[in-house]
Amino acid sequence: MHSLLSGGVMEKLNILVLEDDKLAQKVMAAHLAAHSVDMAGDLKAALKKIEASKYDIGFFDLMLGPDDDYSGLKAITAAAAKGIYCVVVSSSDSDEMIDRAYALGANDFYAKGNEKANIEDILRKFLQNRKAAASGDIFASAFITEDAETRAAAAEALKYAPTELPILILGPSGTGKTSLAKILHEHSGRDGAFVSINCSAYTEDLLEAELFGFRKGAFTGAAEARKGRLLEAHKGTLFLDEIGTMSLNMQMKLLKSIEERTFYPLGSEKPEHSEFRIISATLEDPQALIAQGKMRFDLFQRIHGYNITLKPLARRRADIFPLVQHFTKGRRRLSFSPEAKAFMEAYSWPGNVRELKKFTDLVSSGREGRVDLETARKHLKETSCAQTAAAADGGLYAYALANGLEAALDKVSAELITRSLRENGGIRTKTLADLKISTRLLYATLKKQGIDIEGGNK
Ligand SMILES: Nc1ncnc2c1ncn2[C@@H]1O[C@H](COP(=O)(O)OP(=O)(O)OP(=O)(O)O)[C@@H](O)[C@H]1O
Ligand SMILES: [Mg+2]
Repeated sequence: MHSLLSGGVMEKLNILVLEDDKLAQKVMAAHLAAHSVDMAGDLKAALKKIEASKYDIGFFDLMLGPDDDYSGLKAITAAAAKGIYCVVVSSSDSDEMIDRAYALGANDFYAKGNEKANIEDILRKFLQNRKAAASGDIFASAFITEDAETRAAAAEALKYAPTELPILILGPSGTGKTSLAKILHEHSGRDGAFVSINCSAYTEDLLEAELFGFRKGAFTGAAEARKGRLLEAHKGTLFLDEIGTMSLNMQMKLLKSIEERTFYPLGSEKPEHSEFRIISATLEDPQALIAQGKMRFDLFQRIHGYNITLKPLARRRADIFPLVQHFTKGRRRLSFSPEAKAFMEAYSWPGNVRELKKFTDLVSSGREGRVDLETARKHLKETSCAQTAAAADGGLYAYALANGLEAALDKVSAELITRSLRENGGIRTKTLADLKISTRLLYATLKKQGIDIEGGNK
């Protein structure tokens, strides 16, 4: 990946700066030195330049001269009308002034005083957004979804990709959390690497060593020093997968390193500095984790910024066939019989997109390029837990259309009964009491569904 700001290949932008103060002009010019910059010292000069030239970005001071009536605002109107990305950099940053500037078409508003960092952020965001617009649609090539809600949420997440804001991705297993995290990093414009760590894959000690790294001899078995993931993610993205499984103790250590941007490798007295951006994912509900005391609220505050929840595939069925298309792109194409299609559409996809991908791989390596109902069925066997998921979201409706209402009701009854039996450890009397049903109904329902429960009299 090329470097955007510190040397390397950089796109040269045409920039207009409206600023009456000579010193401030110098500061701006210095920070924009890599670009082609026009300076305007008053409104008239600015309007003339806006009219005559083409600019990508305009930086506008508002108060031009000691008795000025915030005439910089007028330049914003003219620049916005010509599609220039308008940034206000002004000392007049009252709420009213900010509001007025935005209303006139400003895209960003910054108070004077932190130009270096702010300009870096603005340019990165601008270039990144332009690249994203030019590279076309991620929805056509990387993150496939036809579901309006998912699309809107992902598009919104993408807007935050080139910022420092943490992003939290929620959703059940296999819904595309890791894929989305990678895409967001690729659109972040960050120079550093995408460093992913699955918190659930390590014991507490190992996770600590992975994240922070260690010095040679820090513990038995540490024959060589190792760089931690936190450091590897310097100027890049640290993707904390399954963050809900992290111990409270580790959460505290992580929080500290996020807040201080500094941490100590195990066995080392020398602090390491790392500027990483955090994207995290979990299949659990963070609010519930907090309520159960499994997630620290202060850590949660640090990792949630823009939150996106990826729905289970069964709740965005419009994505099923576009995803199949995507998975077979450049490979053997498949077709599906209408029955197979209907079956796939009604199926609950408990493994979500991952299961669909596996299914697609399986059937594409099969003998027939045309997938019929039997083949689809063979590879997609619903577990009873999956059926519950299907029942909850319209899969049941499809089932009822195919098999009749009575059969669908029996199916629901059987699911609830088997679930209760499972949770009760098979004690039937308890299930009878819990669900307030008769012995006769219990047996009849299970029998109709062909479910055998072992003899004995519990
Ligand atoms: N919208 C999508 N477009 C294209 N491919 C997708 C999409 N969503 C998921 N996939 C693919 O499905 C598989 C599973 O996705 P991914 O690993 O991102 O899910 P996950 O939510 O991170 O799962 P887990 O909770 O198990 O970590 C991957 O092969 C991924 O490439
Ligand atoms: Mg994942």
